[in-house]
Amino acid sequence: MDKIKVGINGFGTIGKRVADAIDAQDDMVVVGVTKTGPSFGCKLAVKKGFPLYCTSDDQEKINSFSNEGYKCNGGISDLLSVSQVVVDCAPGKMGAENLEKYQSAGVKYIFQGGEKHDLTGLSYTSSANHIQNLNARGTRVVSCNTTGLSRTLVPLFDQCGSLKVECTMIRRAADPGDSSKGPINAIKPVLKVPSHHGPDVMTVKPEIEINSLAVAVPTTIMHVHSIIADLPEGHGLSTDSIIRMWEQTPRVIVMNGSKDRISTTAEVMEMARDIGRKWGDLHEIFVWEDGVKLVGNRLYYFQAIHQESDVIPENVDCIRSLMGTEEDWVKSANKTDESIARYYSTS
Ligand SMILES: NC(=O)c1ccc[n+]([C@@H]2O[C@H](COP(=O)([O-])OP(=O)(O)OC[C@H]3O[C@@H](n4cnc5c(N)ncnc54)[C@H](OP(=O)(O)O)[C@@H]3O)[C@@H](O)[C@H]2O)c1
Repeated sequence: MDKIKVGINGFGTIGKRVADAIDAQDDMVVVGVTKTGPSFGCKLAVKKGFPLYCTSDDQEKINSFSNEGYKCNGGISDLLSVSQVVVDCAPGKMGAENLEKYQSAGVKYIFQGGEKHDLTGLSYTSSANHIQNLNARGTRVVSCNTTGLSRTLVPLFDQCGSLKVECTMIRRAADPGDSSKGPINAIKPVLKVPSHHGPDVMTVKPEIEINSLAVAVPTTIMHVHSIIADLPEGHGLSTDSIIRMWEQTPRVIVMNGSKDRISTTAEVMEMARDIGRKWGDLHEIFVWEDGVKLVGNRLYYFQAIHQESDVIPENVDCIRSLMGTEEDWVKSANKTDESIARYYSTS
């Protein structure tokens, strides 16, 4: 079978990771990545052998790459002409403009969580609605927070049939490479309540009733979610059985804060570096075993989200869903994750 040809529009925090994850697979190939102009990030594309294109079709901008010694293969239209699907990794809220280009080029498209659900009318997470996205023209992989919530809540919902959830997102202020955002010495509540994060889960799993609050705190490395979920009467679950269920769930890691001495996000990130993940990434959602407690019908737990990387394998599964090449999300997730693990152990 021919490999799926994937263009990546935007080669920043998410784009460079998605490109690597696709490069790790045997059923898809990166046909090009875009930058707005020459910058240090172009070196990575060259090193990886990803053909470089410009985000614009403006000839002057295209030429600016060669002035700095980079070979630019053309503008976004040229990239789209050799792609079957484009993964849009542009900064949030640029979607509407880019969508027109994708539609007129006749390529399939995947946006990221910085765009609203309304842009595509369809959203995606591997565990919640892979099948509903099969063969669709385009979709949106939900944000890192929504992906994190879906990873643990969808299997819980599948076990007990109904869920009412309240959660607080304790959000990192900025990505580590981002020098323009804050706060650096304050805690900033998101005053639009409820925040969009929880309700966004309902774009992929409408059956889960969920609301959220959010606060940004001065850290760059992870988000933490503090979650309260009300289970239905007669759910038949226990604290232990819920923990065992998450241990069996793809892309969820359960560890014990006390026994494993891993009680902060700093230690979780150190563990990710120890296991050799590139950029110190952790694709999995991290659940503290000793922070899980079921009291009657009410479940309390904490989880940590590596904001720059949990959505990366979802983009790979999403490509297979849009192209209709794998209907079973678990099979896709296993293939994606095993290929990525192999890739990093050898590259
Ligand atoms: N960062 C996270 O933690 C995170 C997590 C989950 C989802 N997301 C979402 O993922 C998307 C990308 O975020 P990011 O953090 O990767 O942003 P980023 O680091 O700022 O990277 C954005 C990339 O898009 C390029 N770009 C600029 N204008 C463009 C345009 N008009 N069309 C196409 N590309 C353009 C930039 O080019 P230059 O490099 O030349 O400037 C850059 O390579 C957003 O929707 C965001 O909300 C981000």
